[in-house]
Amino acid sequence: MSHSPACTTAHTPRRGRWNWRSLRVRLLLASLAWIALGIAGIWYSATRLFAKHVEQNYHDELQVHVRELGRLVRIEPDGTIRLDRPLSDPRFAVPDGGFYWQVSLDGYPPLRSASLTHGELDTSIAHDSSIHHHVESGPTGPTITYGFVRKAKGVGDVHYVIATDERILDDIIARFDHELRLWLGLLAALLGTTGVVYVAVGLRPLDRLGAASARLREGSAARLEGTYPTEIAPLVSDLNVFIEHSQGAVERARLEAGNLAHSLRTPLAVMTDEAERLSHDPATQAAGATLLEQSRIMVQQIEYQLARARATASARRPGTVSRIGKVLPPLVSAMQRLHRDTAFSVAMSEQTDLALPVDPVDLSELLAILLDNAGKWAARKVFVAVEQRGTATGSLLVVRILDDGPGLTPEQIAQAFEIGSRFDPAMAGSGLGLAIARDIAGAYGLDLALSPRSDAPSGLEARVEIPVPGDTD
Ligand SMILES: Nc1ncnc2c1ncn2[C@@H]1O[C@H](COP(=O)(O)OP(=O)(O)OP(=O)(O)O)[C@@H](O)[C@H]1O
Ligand SMILES: [Mg+2]
Repeated sequence: MSHSPACTTAHTPRRGRWNWRSLRVRLLLASLAWIALGIAGIWYSATRLFAKHVEQNYHDELQVHVRELGRLVRIEPDGTIRLDRPLSDPRFAVPDGGFYWQVSLDGYPPLRSASLTHGELDTSIAHDSSIHHHVESGPTGPTITYGFVRKAKGVGDVHYVIATDERILDDIIARFDHELRLWLGLLAALLGTTGVVYVAVGLRPLDRLGAASARLREGSAARLEGTYPTEIAPLVSDLNVFIEHSQGAVERARLEAGNLAHSLRTPLAVMTDEAERLSHDPATQAAGATLLEQSRIMVQQIEYQLARARATASARRPGTVSRIGKVLPPLVSAMQRLHRDTAFSVAMSEQTDLALPVDPVDLSELLAILLDNAGKWAARKVFVAVEQRGTATGSLLVVRILDDGPGLTPEQIAQAFEIGSRFDPAMAGSGLGLAIARDIAGAYGLDLALSPRSDAPSGLEARVEIPVPGDTD
């Protein structure tokens, strides 16, 4: 059934909440980027500062130790090196603990800390009386070594050297870095969560505005309802004023179109009478026929405008909903009385009590036009099927009206919705029904289509698809 004549569809496309054009996504990404940048900045500067201070302290401490060593050492006249008492820092006594000292005198055995169980320290750094330092390889890895030289009476130069493993300083910095990362990770998680909550709460009024606008679109509200923050409130109230104005203007325009059509009826009737009189007179027959034909077109247009004004007068009136279960049965019984030779039957599924966003008067008018056509052209039977159908964009209520009449060709279907289109001169009618049906469907964004029946040798299927609110975006 590929024949689907020109008719309307106005399903709003589904708008995903999470896409690149979403304010929520942009705000969230911006705040997360700022949090990441801030945390990285804090981490970088804190570790740099901490490393600088710790290194400074460490080196100061080593200088204190090497001076203390200088003070505690006694050189006997026979070249023996003695210590008055151990160094104040007990770590120099832990074997291979990373803290070492050594005092040496040219030509005599050196005196070493208890920690220095094997090897010896390089004394080259102790080459004059000022304290110098460098990094070299020591007994348990690279060491930071401090040293100086002092002259001892009668025995020569004494070399004082102190060394600590570089890894001790590196460990202190690494431990700090590890803890800092942990705390900054926690801080980032906290700030990230706050950011998400902040964006969600901050943009909630826009969600409410979206929902209010959806209610307005579906016809369940007359205006944008709800209270909004001061930034949005003026916009909402301006929109409400605009909506009221345009609703009023549309109502007035419809009323005036109806009134105009009405006021033209009587003069037109007089003109038609006059034209008929002229057409009977042989002298004015041609002019009379032309006048009659033009009057007929004018009457058709006026009838169409009046029907339209009546049918769509309530289009989009807020809060109007229809239930197919209430609208359809009385219509079918009325049609049954009108077309007595035709048997009407209805199949409705369970979900037919849904609130549809169409005024009941308009839905009745639309279905009555289709039912009347089916009744007029059916051979014996008209079948009405109502069912709910899920689609990619939501759910639809589908009403199908099938008859077993002659049907229409695809070419006729393509023209059937035009004003005055009639293909069967034997049957009474003005050719306005489908044009009005198309206008009603257009006003509510419904899909209306005719197609030859695929399940029977002849006959026509008229199908109306009504979006079900709540399921569609
Ligand atoms: N179910 C149908 N089976 C066969 N032909 C149809 C059917 N419905 C419509 N048509 C054809 O389409 C034409 C247009 O239909 P439409 O309802 O617009 O006008 P009408 O029924 O002739 O007049 P009106 O509805 O204004 O009284 C009809 O004249 C008829 O030829
Ligand atoms: Mg009709």
